[in-house]
Amino acid sequence: MSLYLVHGGKPLKGEVEISGAKNAALGIIAASIMTDETVVIHNVPMVSDIKAMLNAIASIGAFVEQSKDDPHTYTINGSRINNMIVETEQIKKIRASYYLIGALLGKYNEAQVPLPGGCDLGTRGIDQHEKGFSALGARVGISNGFISVKADRLYGTHIYFDKVSVGATINVMLAAVLAEGKTVIESAAKEPHVVDIANFLNSMGANIRGAGTDNIRITGVPKLHASEYTIIPDQIEAGTFMMAAAITGGDILVKNIIPKHMDCVTGKLREMNCRVEEYDDSIRVIAGDYIRHTNVQTHPYPGFPTDMQPLITVTLGLADGMSLVTETVFDNRFRYVDEIRNMGAKMSVTGTTININSVPNYTPANVNACDLRAGAALVIAALSAKSPRELEDSPIFDVPMCSIIEQAELVERGYEYFDEKLRALGGYIYRFENREDIAKFNIKQFA
Ligand code: UD1
Repeated sequence: MSLYLVHGGKPLKGEVEISGAKNAALGIIAASIMTDETVVIHNVPMVSDIKAMLNAIASIGAFVEQSKDDPHTYTINGSRINNMIVETEQIKKIRASYYLIGALLGKYNEAQVPLPGGCDLGTRGIDQHEKGFSALGARVGISNGFISVKADRLYGTHIYFDKVSVGATINVMLAAVLAEGKTVIESAAKEPHVVDIANFLNSMGANIRGAGTDNIRITGVPKLHASEYTIIPDQIEAGTFMMAAAITGGDILVKNIIPKHMDCVTGKLREMNCRVEEYDDSIRVIAGDYIRHTNVQTHPYPGFPTDMQPLITVTLGLADGMSLVTETVFDNRFRYVDEIRNMGAKMSVTGTTININSVPNYTPANVNACDLRAGAALVIAALSAKSPRELEDSPIFDVPMCSIIEQAELVERGYEYFDEKLRALGGYIYRFENREDIAKFNIKQFA
């Protein structure tokens, strides 16, 4: 179990470059095996979920090579795939394993993939995926921890999702691009990575129209071809650094992003008394002299992203008054609330709403990351934390001055070079493999 050691209280300042979007990359890597020709993908983020997906496609026979000149560029060729059963240990831990079902079903008419893992955010059904595959003509079965799909042929269909689902939208899109005839997806998810995956599939010769709206139309093509493609920047990583500026009283220029994707986060930060300057491909967030309280509800895109929920909650914990944060996408994305309370936060959960009574500052504590985005939220909270000793102007380093965030590996599922990027902004954060290594660390290096 790896850990972050964080000494907070210093405003984060400077510039940060955002990596490629993890959730787009997961779908694009799965899609890349749908042609027998060679695909080159740029801006692939080097995070553990991506490594799991790359290992999974290699395990069934795909050629996967990282560029020697650019570690974020991969060459993939799916012509030698000889196994429809994906069963690596790593793939069982990620949610997006299910994209291999859509990709293999589309290309080979069959697949067997472990039931999806990923963060524990409450119930995470796959009934809409099953509904989509069945509508395309596949037989779907679940047994022994695997989901199996098989079809004699796939044919275009009209699907109305009962619930807006990013994963089901992408999965049906993957399978339908090689189906016979026209597929219409109603009530589709509109997230930027849905659009990015559609754009990638179109660059391989697919015929997808309407991605980014709630009505996606796909005309099946007989086969897909070679492509070279660059993945969009990660919207949630960008939002994380924007919140980091707000919570630490800092000033961060978040570079290599698509500002339009950040509209909802930008709007909330302005309500929260931050100055937000938008440029062509970057956003600068300058914290105000206090954080203004506000209310937030998560919604599918273009609403406020559920993945940003823990990040805005910990930031509002330091606001000038009471805030309410309501989660509408997942039914139990609140486990981190107990952890942030250990840092002095005054929050409670009622139903699907977090009631936030503000405190002037957080104090260092030992906490558990809980899940990917909660872990990132606890890190930025720890970077804002001030030790009681510091607050009283007492000598430092003779009391617990630092927070420890356990299970840093959960954060590394989705953030590339997270501690390095935060250190470059002036944050005192170090990653350790275990507690023994922390004991050997000279904490005064933080000074
Ligand atoms: C994706 C993202 C995740 C993000 C989420 C919502 C990836 C790999 N993960 O997850 O980071 O938090 O979108 O933006 O892209 N649902 C069903 N039945 C289904 C499918 C979903 O009931 O068949 C429910 C889920 O339980 C959840 C809601 O629909 O309550 C949204 O889930 P979905 O959009 O599918 O999220 P994921 O694709 O799992």
